[in-house]
Parts: sequence; structure tokens; C-alpha cells
Amino acid sequence: MSMHKAEQQKPVLDIKDFTVEVDGMEILHGLNLHIEGGEVHAIMGPNGTGKSTLASAIMGHPRFDITRGEVILNGEDLLSLSVDERARAGLFLGMQYPAEVSGVTNSDFLRSAVNARRETPLGVLPFLRQLNEAVSELEMRETLPDRYLNEGFSGGEKKRNEILQMKLLKPSIALLDEIDSGLDIDALRIVGQNITAMMEERGDQMGLLMITHYQRLLDYIQPQFVHVLMNGRIVHTGDATLAKRLEAEGYDWLRKELDLADEDGTDIAGDNEGELDADLDALFM
Ligand SMILES: Nc1ncnc2c1ncn2[C@@H]1O[C@H](COP(=O)(O)OP(=O)(O)OP(=O)(O)O)[C@@H](O)[C@H]1O
Ligand SMILES: [Mg+2]
Repeated sequence: MSMHKAEQQKPVLDIKDFTVEVDGMEILHGLNLHIEGGEVHAIMGPNGTGKSTLASAIMGHPRFDITRGEVILNGEDLLSLSVDERARAGLFLGMQYPAEVSGVTNSDFLRSAVNARRETPLGVLPFLRQLNEAVSELEMRETLPDRYLNEGFSGGEKKRNEILQMKLLKPSIALLDEIDSGLDIDALRIVGQNITAMMEERGDQMGLLMITHYQRLLDYIQPQFVHVLMNGRIVHTGDATLAKRLEAEGYDWLRKELDLADEDGTDIAGDNEGELDADLDALFM
């Protein structure tokens, strides 16, 4: 695929009948989602309903088996591509629990990731200029690029580092999985403002999907579409007001309205316990 072409056309990600298994257990049961450049989508939903599964399976994490459906980016079948090729095609995943990589500095990792997407590699000095500018816009510690990737980073530093990667990589479709969890109040604002500035700058060249439990992130990044993922499917789509209603009322009203069984056995998302659980999960990973 020509890199040039990918940079110019408005990106379109089409997910159809997406069905995903983990260890023989079906988590996503035929999910449909369509994201175009210039659009901001949010996905909300109770713990354990398959939100991270969706993001990781689109990116190509080998743990997930795609048993049905398709994921098409700009007419190209993403599911036949390796993770690297998906990244080169313009897909980016900001992870809920970013991995620590010892022996590779953050800066070296970023430069090879940036250069993998370019026809002619970016020289060290121009790269460092971009890196330093992004580090300063994100108000990150200046020493973070020289440390091993995520090693010993605080929870919030890891999340901010995912956004640093996104800023440098300039993806055409970005998936951000709970980018707000672990961020302090100021960091949430800084990250939110950086993402919004990037969306404005890229215009219709970038589409964004944010997975979040909390409306507060959406105060900084206005979504046009808010989807609810429950029982392995998108069961409801609304506008930004839907996130406010979910924050105030939880998910039970929607379950009743849609006559959904409580398949996930949990309705704690929306209060603070959900966040605590997610953080505990991170500890044990
Ligand atoms: N390796 C695995 N073996 C068995 N079940 C798994 C495995 N990985 C994930 N699951 C299950 O898949 C379901 C969906 O998990 P996923 O991480 O996608 O949820 P989520 O919607 O992102 O939840 P959260 O809001 O807590 O982040 C969960 O029930 C989880 O336990
Ligand atoms: Mg998750």
C-alpha cells in the first residue's frame, strides 16, 4: 500500500459482524462500528463486556481469535495484516495497561515507530525537535524519553506516554483504551486538550475512538457518537448527552429498556469501584 495515499484520503474504518474469542470463549458477538476521519467516538460499558478485547483484536493482538466478520481500513482488509503492517496502515492503539519494555529507550522506540511509517527516515535532530516539542506540550518530565520504555513509569506517566506516541505517529485511526484512568486532574486536562488540539489540526485525516468509563474525559474531547458496549455488542448509540445520562444513572435503565440479560454479571461501572477494580487488575498484570 502506498503511504502517500494513506496520508491523503479521509480514513474510513469499517467493522462488521466482528466476532472474537479468547481461549475458546466468545467475547464479542458480531459487533458493528463505522469510524471516519474527523469523527470522535466514545465507547462506554460495564467492566468485562469486551471493550479492551475490541481494541486489542482490531490492533491484532495474537491472543484473540477472530471467528467471524471483517475490519476494513480504507478498503484494505486489516485482519490479514500483521500488527506492524496495521500500524503502518495508520492504526494506533493507546493501551489500557501499557507494557514495560526493558533495554529499549522510549526515544529509540518512538523514532523507529515514526520511521516505520515514513518512506524516508526522519533524521535524529528533526526527530528530537518534534519529540521535545511534544514532551513539552504534554508537560511531561524531560527525562522520560531517555528512560526504558514505560519501565518504572507511574500509572499516569504511562498514559501520558501513550499520547506522546500518538502525537508523533500521527495515526489515521486512533483507539484509546481508558486513556483517562490513572491520570490526575491536571494530567486529564492536559491530555484532553492535547488530543483535542491534535484532532483539530488533523481535521478529517484522523478518526478517534475512546474507550472510557467516565464522562469527565468527554468534557475535554467532545464525541459526536457515544456507544454502549454490553454483552459483546454495541447495543445503543447516542450523542454526548448519553454519556451524561450513563454517568448519572448507570447502565440498568438501558438493560431494562433493551431487555438485556445481565450477562456480564456486573453493573459497577459508573461508580468509583469500577476504577478501583481496573487499577487492581493493573497491579496483577
Ligand atoms: N485470556 C483470557 N481468558 C479468559 N477470559 C478472558 C481472557 N482475556 C479476557 N477475558 C475475558 O473477556 C471479557 C472481556 O474483557 P475485556 O478486557 O475486553 O473487558 P473490558 O470491557 O475492557 O473491561 P474493563 O472495563 O474492566 O476494562 C472479560 O470477561 C475477561 O475476563
Ligand atoms: Mg478494558
